Amino acid sequence: MILDKFSLKGKIGLVTGAGSGIGRAMATGLAEAGANVALAGNEMEVLEEAAAAMKRSGLHVSPFHVDMADPESIEKLVGSVLKKFGRIDFLFNNAGIIHRAPFEKFPLEDWEEMIKVNLTGPFLLSQAVANHMIEKGIKGSIVNTSSLIAVLGGVTVPAYAATKGGLTQLTKAMCNDLGKYGIRVNAIGPGWVKTGMTKALRENTERFQAISDRIPLGRWADPEDLAGLAVFLASDASEYITGQVHFIDGGYLAM
Ligand SMILES: NC(=O)c1ccc[n+]([C@@H]2O[C@H](COP(=O)([O-])OP(=O)(O)OC[C@H]3O[C@@H](n4cnc5c(N)ncnc54)[C@H](OP(=O)(O)O)[C@@H]3O)[C@@H](O)[C@H]2O)c1
Repeated sequence: MILDKFSLKGKIGLVTGAGSGIGRAMATGLAEAGANVALAGNEMEVLEEAAAAMKRSGLHVSPFHVDMADPESIEKLVGSVLKKFGRIDFLFNNAGIIHRAPFEKFPLEDWEEMIKVNLTGPFLLSQAVANHMIEKGIKGSIVNTSSLIAVLGGVTVPAYAATKGGLTQLTKAMCNDLGKYGIRVNAIGPGWVKTGMTKALRENTERFQAISDRIPLGRWADPEDLAGLAVFLASDASEYITGQVHFIDGGYLAM
């Protein structure tokens, strides 16, 4: 039955940046669909609060520390999740950061930090998880959180655009190399979502209005708008879908 294919019952998942915003909403949806979800993030207090709220709703989740800028921390994360659960069926590389400055003045240290967190971290985590899936014969799913800014350049976000463009191409490269193992790799491309990352932008009334006016559905996304696609891509309902970027933007790119 088709609805059974959307169920994540019995699956173990790992979501980075799961303590807030899009990651928290996706992790909640994935757990509501039946998965046991490892929540990873850097700020343990935030992560533990998110985990406690999900547990109060009867969901199966556990918090794990990771600093996505640190290769050793990423290796440790995978070891800890495997020690606790023994397997990983799906991975969401969702953690990300943004620094804003005009290209002419963009600081090298901000550029380097963003390359580490937004691109090198997902590369290393995916490699470790994919090797585990290959070893165990798991036909898993890996989903990267890209952005509209992977295909539009954005304004004052050169490093963000470069890292999200890179993550999109990495998604396709991984799809090609991992397909033979039955591992699928997709990206989600959120549009304008009401999270901490966009707070300053939303407080700029003129910019907020200009963006809102260009969204055919007429509103910014809530983080929960991302959860349905997350469940679909983690589940067997999407078992022939790989190498794609799935935009959730209220129609922004069509305008
Ligand atoms: N909001 C939007 O409109 C939008 C649009 C397109 C794409 N995105 C992407 O969506 C993803 C989630 O962002 P969001 O909008 O939900 O903003 P957010 O609430 O700020 O979430 C970002 C998450 O990344 C985690 N993170 C940052 N640096 C980390 C590090 N070094 N190690 C581990 N975790 C780290 C944060 O966890 P800690 O607090 O624990 O550090 C946080 O949970 C990002 O990749 C972002 O680029 C957002």
